[in-house]
Amino acid sequence: MNNPYQYAKSNQQRFLDEYQELLRIRTISTQPQHAKDVARAAEWLKAMMLRIGMDRAEVILMPEGRCPLALGEWNGAGEDAPTILIYCHYDVQPAEVADGWDTEPFEPTIKDGRLFCRGAVDSKLHVMSNLKAVESWLASEEKPKVNIKVVLEGEEESGSENINAFIAAHPERLAADIAMISDGAILAPDQPSLTYGLRGITALELHVSAPVSDLHSGHWGGSVHNPIQALSEILAQLHDENGAVSVPGFYDDVAAVTAQDRALLEKVEPYLQAEWDDVVSAPALWGEAAYNLPERLGARPTLEINGIHGGYTGDGMKTVLPARAFAKITCRLVPRQDPERVLNCVVEHIKRIAPNTVNIDFKFGGMGAEAVLLDVAGLALKSAAEAYTYAWGVEPVFERAGGSVPITFECMKVAGDVVIMSYGLKSGRAHGPNENIYLQNFYNGIQATIKFIDLVGEGRG
Ligand code: BES
Ligand code: MN
Repeated sequence: MNNPYQYAKSNQQRFLDEYQELLRIRTISTQPQHAKDVARAAEWLKAMMLRIGMDRAEVILMPEGRCPLALGEWNGAGEDAPTILIYCHYDVQPAEVADGWDTEPFEPTIKDGRLFCRGAVDSKLHVMSNLKAVESWLASEEKPKVNIKVVLEGEEESGSENINAFIAAHPERLAADIAMISDGAILAPDQPSLTYGLRGITALELHVSAPVSDLHSGHWGGSVHNPIQALSEILAQLHDENGAVSVPGFYDDVAAVTAQDRALLEKVEPYLQAEWDDVVSAPALWGEAAYNLPERLGARPTLEINGIHGGYTGDGMKTVLPARAFAKITCRLVPRQDPERVLNCVVEHIKRIAPNTVNIDFKFGGMGAEAVLLDVAGLALKSAAEAYTYAWGVEPVFERAGGSVPITFECMKVAGDVVIMSYGLKSGRAHGPNENIYLQNFYNGIQATIKFIDLVGEGRG
């Protein structure tokens, strides 16, 4: 077989089988009881990289043995050729049948051209599309004109703390002319989109306490500021009535939405609205009135309350006055916002508005990532666009994605150029029940990566 495109087409069924094999491994990075599964997947990926003909592959353990990296290299194009780095993550979010799954979350199930499984879209789709594209190249007579590095992370879903330290300590291991960050979603099964921005993130926990222990609400109620009530009062003051974040300083460094953004994102709006109607389906749209849906989702920062906990929530009633309550909060950031500075603004604001009737305390997970914005007119994105057009037969539109891939900003420091290639869908329900992909997107993704490697090799990257 002398052509990688053809090779990929003739091996679709085997590729799908292998993808399903990876999906069965419960690579939940946030749950320590799955550390062995994460480690097993890293070894599985290393073995695969060697099997498909990469020169070297290794598993790099992270501190405390957590969430290893699987790295692979092929240097057959020679020293003078450019190097492309492909990054994906193989860890996944937790999943339980009770969350609302119609099938076993870790048993891949194919139905009507779709594959259902935790990790199907986020992000084993990307791991496998890219590895199978590399395999298709290395199995062909015609070899790639670029050297290839593959970095597969096992800790993305829990904040990427260790990989960033690894890059900082060994920048040469990830250095490349082009880094392809492969994660996220396109707009519709037959409408590819090219992600030219990702939001950053910062996180904190707010703990509120008042009495030293849970109390009888009859004995003491009316004399103590209930921590759940105090927490709610604080949380209610983090946004104004127009949907904007009311933390002083929060918007200080926010890069403006430019006329170019507006023009590009306008094309995305109908697709995103359709996705919103399907996936979100809330009674009404909410948010900053001055910005349309794609701008709210990709170009504006947010503050989100992710969870709140306190008191008694079991069966029956319990007349308790709880001792404590807490909330988990994250902020999505846009270019120029510094995660630490934003975190400080939020903390200072909460300290200012917190009543003196309760104690407040903060916990920080150490998670922080800056937003990225790529040059849509750059050579790398032009090649990526051409690769999508080749694989889908339709030109991509340009989108700023709302999610975060913490390594991206770090990659920009060690790579000449960066692109983000996504093959999943928002309606693929990443992080939720019934996560799925369209099988066709897997096959198209493989063709797109093959083409991208081709174009970069021709010096078009
Ligand atoms: N695949 C997502 C990132 C993503 C989501 C990119 C939507 C583009 C659009 C990734 O796996 C993810 O979920 N990242 C986390 C990072 C966090 C845990 C630091 C996120 O965005 O919440
Ligand atoms: Mn994810």
